[in-house]
Amino acid sequence: MEKYVIRGGNPLRGTVDISGAKNAAVAIIPAAIMVRGVCRLENLPQISDTDTLLRVLSYMGASVRTINRSTVELDCTNVKLDSLSEDIWALTRRIRASYYLIGAMLGRFGAACSTMPGGCNFGLRPIDQHIKGLTALGADVRVEGGFIRAAARDGHLHGTKIYLDKVSVGATINIMIAAATAEGVTVIENVAREPHIVDLANFLNSMGADVRGAGTDVIKIRGVKELHGGTYALIPDQIEAGTYMAAVAATGGAVKIANVIPKHLDCISSKLREMNVEIEEGDDYVLVRREGDLRHTNVKTMPYPGFPTDMQPQIGTVLCCASGLSVITEGVWDNRYKYIEELRKMGAQIQVDGRTAFIQGVDRLTGATVRACDLRAGAAVVIAGLAADGVTRVEDIQYIERGYQNIVGKLQALGADIKCVDEPDEPSALRPAWIAG
Ligand code: UD1
Repeated sequence: MEKYVIRGGNPLRGTVDISGAKNAAVAIIPAAIMVRGVCRLENLPQISDTDTLLRVLSYMGASVRTINRSTVELDCTNVKLDSLSEDIWALTRRIRASYYLIGAMLGRFGAACSTMPGGCNFGLRPIDQHIKGLTALGADVRVEGGFIRAAARDGHLHGTKIYLDKVSVGATINIMIAAATAEGVTVIENVAREPHIVDLANFLNSMGADVRGAGTDVIKIRGVKELHGGTYALIPDQIEAGTYMAAVAATGGAVKIANVIPKHLDCISSKLREMNVEIEEGDDYVLVRREGDLRHTNVKTMPYPGFPTDMQPQIGTVLCCASGLSVITEGVWDNRYKYIEELRKMGAQIQVDGRTAFIQGVDRLTGATVRACDLRAGAAVVIAGLAADGVTRVEDIQYIERGYQNIVGKLQALGADIKCVDEPDEPSALRPAWIAG
């Protein structure tokens, strides 16, 4: 199996270009189903999640033309519901964002079907708020046999007022997509404010929708008859940028993180500054430098503009290299500490109690064979490997490649000793029994 082999200890230096935002891409690609005409998407990240969704659309009858590494032209004019098939379900089961296909199909055809979403396992990932919103718009939604099926009660959706009981990125996005062509006005209250929510709204508006308020906690959508083609460039990936910032903090060195929106990184920059990392902001870059020792701090994850849960494993790894005791409180997911078992194999000292992790900094992490338990947990063990003494082997890298474009090439260009090799996994007999089981 392919794995990353990392010889740690090199400080990172140079410039890294950040790719387009994964979580914007996985919302915008399904939303393109609503568009009749050619939709040109620029700054799309080349990662397996976007590849999977583009294949889904292509199986559904869309024409997908690759213009260059980050630009795709999508024409969903001929997409049809009767093209849904087992080939599509095999793909949609792999990713979380497949539930956005429901909002998009409902908006375009008044009916929809998809598998229950896959993606990272952080404990319970309910979709009750998606169902609540789509039902309020006039759809009957059923979950049965691993599928979500929805149909507009009178053939099309109607605008209404929806209050989300929980701030949910996914529910906000799904309802926004479906409401773009609903009859009348939809007001969604207590919505998520993440940068990719704003990006989706900007995408929909540039295709003819009328969405206002994205980035605040109330979004108002005046339904339009249909969406037309156009060109849209996605925002840079906040979490990919944050991951490289955390990597520099862990290894030391100085790196220019280019093609970013520094404002989106404020929550990450301010935590890193508390930890003795210097951060200088430019128009579309941040310079990250760490020369002295790292200081401990406390982190609580929250919806945007709070500290992102998707940066929790990476910052947790950096805190392993800081002096003193740090406390992390996970405010979004029930079970997002699976990476800690992997870090312990590298000498990290961490105790977990419910949603709280107590991290006692150590002088050095040491290389070991570890797993990427999910996408960001995978990024965390890569960072640990870069900072550790000796050699780290990271297995199950398919999770990392769901969301990081060319992570090996980008890190190599910064001076890291990392390569992707194809070698057999460590025999389970050599692993502790609790892993082999
Ligand atoms: C998205 C991101 C994920 C990130 C998360 C929080 C994508 C593809 N994934 O996931 O990387 O970690 O936002 O920033 O964009 N909830 C409910 N009912 C629902 C929906 C959610 O109770 O119907 C709860 C969840 O259990 C969780 C919280 O709300 O505790 C936030 O979930 P949500 O924002 O919906 O996360 P996702 O959209 O799944």
